[in-house]
Amino acid sequence: MSNENHQASHGRALTATIIVIALILVGGFTYQLGRRHALGNAKTASTSQHALKRVGILQYVSHPALNQIHKGVVDELEKEGFIDGKNIQIIDQNGQADQSKLATMSEQLVNKKADVLVGIATPAAQALANATSTTPIVLGAVTDPVAAGLVRDMKAPGKNITGVSDQPPVASEIKLGKELMPQAKTVGMLYSSTEDNSKSQVDTATKAATKLGLKVKKFAVPSSNEIAQTVQVMNGQVDFIYIPLDNTIANAMPTVTEEANKQNKPVITSVDTMVTQGGLATIGVNQYQLGIQTGKMAANILKGKSKPATTPVYTFSTGDTIINKEQAQHLAINVPEKLMKNAKLVTTDVGKNK
Ligand code: TRP
Repeated sequence: MSNENHQASHGRALTATIIVIALILVGGFTYQLGRRHALGNAKTASTSQHALKRVGILQYVSHPALNQIHKGVVDELEKEGFIDGKNIQIIDQNGQADQSKLATMSEQLVNKKADVLVGIATPAAQALANATSTTPIVLGAVTDPVAAGLVRDMKAPGKNITGVSDQPPVASEIKLGKELMPQAKTVGMLYSSTEDNSKSQVDTATKAATKLGLKVKKFAVPSSNEIAQTVQVMNGQVDFIYIPLDNTIANAMPTVTEEANKQNKPVITSVDTMVTQGGLATIGVNQYQLGIQTGKMAANILKGKSKPATTPVYTFSTGDTIINKEQAQHLAINVPEKLMKNAKLVTTDVGKNK
């Protein structure tokens, strides 16, 4: 091969290489463009997936009763066709009895544009109400929504809040205490000074007790740290202890019954979960049912079937009589035949639902 020929073929090879490189570049670029386009589409698709309706649940603290209510809410939403991760997104928050956590979590749920908010227990519902006046809020077991400043009128809430009130049959509970302890002269009320739900219930209970000729002593604890010591003091001053639907006390129920048992002091509660944790008796509303009803109301709002402003707050008119027979035996209490017949008898089951 001559030198000239060699150079010419060299030139042709070079041109060919350049063309190939150019083709690769152009092809690659086109491919990238196409890919980007596809990604863009994928992004749109995932945004529309996030357009799933959102339910934000804020639970005040974990105690057996509130845990049952929470379960009821989620189960009922599912029964109504709202399945978490499939056609709705449930965002769960638990305030662990901490006011500042409740406030931040409420803000977050509102910022995440929840379509419906569920507040389990009064302090959680109050935190949600502080964070929004437009997003629908469903009250999960708030004892006295009016006293807690959450609704103006139980029948016509008027704003963005409705839900379920678990106002227990307080007068019947006190009467039950008197029937089980006919010799009792003084009842001591144990509750937390920070919970609006307890204050209003203790007021009602005080009136009922006074009517029955009982003397009332109130013991409001500032926090859970004072509970053991307070029960020790009560042991020396009262004939039986009455506990309203108080979350702070519910959260420390094993401590309460441990101290009360040291002096054989009967404990009348407002909920069955406190009876299975060592209380003597109650007439209470089933906690899981409270959750079911709350879930139903949330589902109706999601479906656009109802609006909080015009949906009355739901209340339960009856409760079940629950007696801890093990505890009655331990306290040497004779349960009247008539009560025995109508009551659901349980035993202490500390580990349950914890
Ligand atoms: N009603 C309580 C509130 O308004 C919450 C609650 C429901 C509760 N079930 C309970 C508290 C059982 C103590 C025990 O905050």
